[in-house]
Amino acid sequence: MKDKIAELIHEVAKTNQVFRFVYNKDKKFDTNKDWVYYSGPYWDNEEVIGMFGAVLTGKWLSAGEHIHKFESEFSKKFNHADSLMVNSGSSANLVMFTALKSYLKWSDGDELIVSPVGFPTTIAPIYQNRLVPVFIDINLKDLNFDIEKIEEKINARTKGIVVSPVLGNSPDMDYLVALCKKHQIQLIMDNCDSLGSRWDNKLLTDYSIASSCSFYPAHHITTGEGGMVSSKDENYLKIARRVAWWGRDCYCVGAANLLPCGTCGNRFDKWMEGSDAIIDHKYYFTEMGYNLKPLDLQGAIGLAQLQKYDEIHEKRRRSKEKMDSLFEKYIHGIRTVKEHPKAHTSWFGTPFVCETKELKRKLVQFLEDNRIQTRNYFAGNILQHPAYKMLDDYKKYPNSNRVLEEVFFLGAAPHYTNDTFDYIESVLKKWK
Ligand SMILES: Cc1ncc(COP(=O)(O)O)c(C=O)c1O
Repeated sequence: MKDKIAELIHEVAKTNQVFRFVYNKDKKFDTNKDWVYYSGPYWDNEEVIGMFGAVLTGKWLSAGEHIHKFESEFSKKFNHADSLMVNSGSSANLVMFTALKSYLKWSDGDELIVSPVGFPTTIAPIYQNRLVPVFIDINLKDLNFDIEKIEEKINARTKGIVVSPVLGNSPDMDYLVALCKKHQIQLIMDNCDSLGSRWDNKLLTDYSIASSCSFYPAHHITTGEGGMVSSKDENYLKIARRVAWWGRDCYCVGAANLLPCGTCGNRFDKWMEGSDAIIDHKYYFTEMGYNLKPLDLQGAIGLAQLQKYDEIHEKRRRSKEKMDSLFEKYIHGIRTVKEHPKAHTSWFGTPFVCETKELKRKLVQFLEDNRIQTRNYFAGNILQHPAYKMLDDYKKYPNSNRVLEEVFFLGAAPHYTNDTFDYIESVLKKWK
């Protein structure tokens, strides 16, 4: 059956009917009409074959054997004991913080240290869990939070530092790990933009108790929507799975769902404390949970994407380097952002810091007019936004407030070819 699906997909692909995405892996760059988008899915036939195969021949429509396999392969590839796939990176953060609070027995009002410049759904689930986000202004050198300002904010209620390198570039992990050790607090990674980034030859996630990841189309690998929570602690992951799967205690996944006695070996038993009733483990609830499960076909897509990760990583590094060199050559008054000598970054994008806000405004307009897609540095200081204003006074974070006016980023996409860079160069030559 799978072979027939593959044959059919290859046939249709030849007619150029299959890939209507912004990007796909083998698309040629047409200098007369194409945009240089900042990112997009790096797919070929394999993702499409996997996706249809999962629907037509799989046993589950919801999370099943393909998700389970993807979780295992992802864990192997990125050195986790276990991983849990959910329906987005935002859900991954929600599950990650909810499960950490339960597992480590944090109390309402406990504090987590975080940057105000990043993605909103890094911060929202901290507050939604009745924890307190404590903010640290960024430094304009690497655009991460200013690690030297962290220690003065640590107190008896501080439970952890949330590291979220916005475009993949790592802060000094030696410093952060030592700080966490000194104060007996956790290092937690929102790794949505930094899948595969390394520090001192180790993955950034190797330094953390738990990490999240996003598979939205702009990210390193994509399943359309999707996210992952990972950890080296399998017991923590069991709690995360409960949180994402309605709050139930059962942790059977994929084919294990068909075991008459379940993975635990005693599916029908006296599970409830203080009750003699024999109940089904699948209907025994130990967390107050959500339903954040993905579709099984997303697991099949993820498996195909994992095969491409190494190529994507190398190409993203090349794209960032090439973008830097072109902009350094042709545009005066901007600064590129370099990785720390101990870091090996899997770039999400190529950030630029402009000398003045006038320069940023003019340059961004010029690039957009010439079909080179730009992005603001996400939301800038999130505390300036209506939904987040009540968390803290944004005026306390002056560097963060400069970000929307002086910083922007372009892609470091794996799709860029020599034609793309030739086109960008021809545009930059016209800059006055
Ligand atoms: C750092 C960071 N965290 C979380 C998210 C949310 O991921 P998703 O869009 O999959 O919900 C994003 C999205 O781009 C992100 O960049």
